[in-house]
Amino acid sequence: MAQRVVISGASRGLGAALAEAMAEPGVALLLLARHGENLRQVAERCVQKGAEVYWRALDVRHREAVADAVEAFASRGGVHLLIANAGVVALEDTPTDLGPDWEQLREQIDHNLTCTLSLLQAGLSLPMDQRPHLHCVVVSSLNAFLPLGEAPGYCVAKAAQHALVAALDDFYACRPEPRTEVVFSLVCPGFVATAMAIDYPGPRPFECSAQQAAQRILRGLRAGHKVIVFPRRLALLLWIGQRLPKPILRWILAPSRAYRGSWP
Ligand SMILES: NC(=O)c1ccc[n+]([C@@H]2O[C@H](COP(=O)([O-])OP(=O)(O)OC[C@H]3O[C@@H](n4cnc5c(N)ncnc54)[C@H](OP(=O)(O)O)[C@@H]3O)[C@@H](O)[C@H]2O)c1
Repeated sequence: MAQRVVISGASRGLGAALAEAMAEPGVALLLLARHGENLRQVAERCVQKGAEVYWRALDVRHREAVADAVEAFASRGGVHLLIANAGVVALEDTPTDLGPDWEQLREQIDHNLTCTLSLLQAGLSLPMDQRPHLHCVVVSSLNAFLPLGEAPGYCVAKAAQHALVAALDDFYACRPEPRTEVVFSLVCPGFVATAMAIDYPGPRPFECSAQQAAQRILRGLRAGHKVIVFPRRLALLLWIGQRLPKPILRWILAPSRAYRGSWP
């Protein structure tokens, strides 16, 4: 497994679980998120497992701050693995006759995509000798395959992450750089029991813990998978759902909708 790793959104949830799962002697971690106290606690647990740990409390949307943190970390021995995991979700739970909450929709797209772009840009802009074999991992969602009305901005951002990874993968494949190798992986989890999922008012089928999700992701990365989708059972249901007539799909989903109250 990679030895020098940058993880965004590492203050809790999946990012924290990934950091702790990777922490061991010989591994150096740079942990990024906004809440310093949470980051410090995650860092402490990783240090106890023998890892060398750096953390920086910052908003990952601020690309100069992210670039600065990644450059400082890379100057100590480079970067092998970047995990763009930071993300937010907001539900459309109070529909109005003006349609979705347009400001929230824009903010969700902007927030999630800017977090991803800032980290990828920081890593891929490093001097080549600091990233001779860089593996970039983007944490998207199964929601990208079945965009739902209760979280339009989130679903659009997650689907855009798929396109972004595919486009960057193609970009680097078409422009071979003799002294460096860049590999991309996309992670599409179903429900993971974190702060993000806990507010979802409907059922969360096949939900796993953050630790189980982290293990599943790391197994996929070790096996060299470029797309890591789990749980398989939910992915299969989504695959079937995509092929159903929309009225039937909506009838099936109705009891688990996040909307509160009725449409005006
Ligand atoms: N939980 C699920 O069911 C689920 C399912 C599919 C995909 N995912 C994806 O998995 C990833 C991790 O989510 P999670 O479930 O672990 O959620 P979470 O517990 O809410 O954690 C989100 C992390 O992102 C960080 N973050 C958000 N915005 C940030 C910003 N602007 N700058 C820096 N850090 C920021 C948060 O830290 P601070 O608040 O400290 O900044 C936190 O560490 C997300 O990309 C999410 O879309 C989750």
